Amino acid sequence: MSNLYYIPEQGALAQWLTAHSCADRVFFCNSGAEANEGAIKLARKYGRTELGIENPIIITANSSFHGRTLATVTATGQPKYQKNFNPLMPGFHYVPYNDIDGLKAAIQLLDADQRQVAAVMLEPMQGEGGVCPGNPVYFKQVRRLCDEMGILLILDEVQVGMGRSGNLWGYETVGVEPDVFTSAKGLGGGVPIGAILTKRHCDVFQPSEHGSTFGGNPFVCGVALKVCETLESEQVLANVRSRGQQLRTGLRAIAQKYPSLCAGVRGWGLINGLVLQPEVETVALDIVKAALAEGLLVIPAGAKVVRFVPPLIVSEADVNQALFLMEQTLAKLV
Ligand SMILES: Cc1ncc(COP(=O)(O)O)c(C=O)c1O
Repeated sequence: MSNLYYIPEQGALAQWLTAHSCADRVFFCNSGAEANEGAIKLARKYGRTELGIENPIIITANSSFHGRTLATVTATGQPKYQKNFNPLMPGFHYVPYNDIDGLKAAIQLLDADQRQVAAVMLEPMQGEGGVCPGNPVYFKQVRRLCDEMGILLILDEVQVGMGRSGNLWGYETVGVEPDVFTSAKGLGGGVPIGAILTKRHCDVFQPSEHGSTFGGNPFVCGVALKVCETLESEQVLANVRSRGQQLRTGLRAIAQKYPSLCAGVRGWGLINGLVLQPEVETVALDIVKAALAEGLLVIPAGAKVVRFVPPLIVSEADVNQALFLMEQTLAKLV
């Protein structure tokens, strides 16, 4: 099925997404990294054609994660993902997350002689980087700064979008509207799909400037549309919020019971992290392996955070079981 011709499933999915977000236009691809790669291309073109910048720079955050292609691994502000892949891509600069002064100082420095910064690209919550929620005050300041500078705010919603934060989009949880955002993972409910979503004013792509053979094919768009409709018809977001509360309450009780190992709990909806004490030898991977032996699937988010990202349809009984198994795991480790 060639993407040269109109695909009704793609049109219906784009319609659903634009009706349920701040975006006006959607481009479909096959993964999160590919969506971010396209958003990077879009920001570069916007910088050139709308801002007159010859070599646009995109600012991203330390500890971010944006994917594993060359451009997105460069956008990712974590040297461990970049090691051995030099030369990286030019045109990226990193700032501390949740730190408006750091961002302002970086833009001032980069734009001192001539305008260079075209966009700021952030995750509403840093998932891979340790389940670090974005601060709504910071995001409002970033939004204002981008408006003042006429530069794009791009949000990577690949991990926390599509309901995981308890709202449909992570940007709702931090209280700002991005110019551009990306989605993947949960959008497909198990099939490979990614999406770049933009407002009309920054939809600068012309036909043939960006494309993908399989992007937006009838099968994946049909599945993704069903995922979107199911989120609504089965009130999945309400489940995400209440199961998230249940999980955090239980994890906090566990953290309090094992204070020598656990420093606390943080997260939104159904993306939560059990934060380990920085000085103890145990790392998140030790707990992940021990939990697996008990029959519980969790993953590390950096060295010291155990990440809980259950299915959005997880039941109350499943969460209780997970808490029971986590406690059992820690009891054996301490
Ligand atoms: C925030 C974020 N962006 C991008 C990606 C990359 O997505 P994909 O693995 O679909 O390329 C991920 C994957 O973990 C992610 O968490």
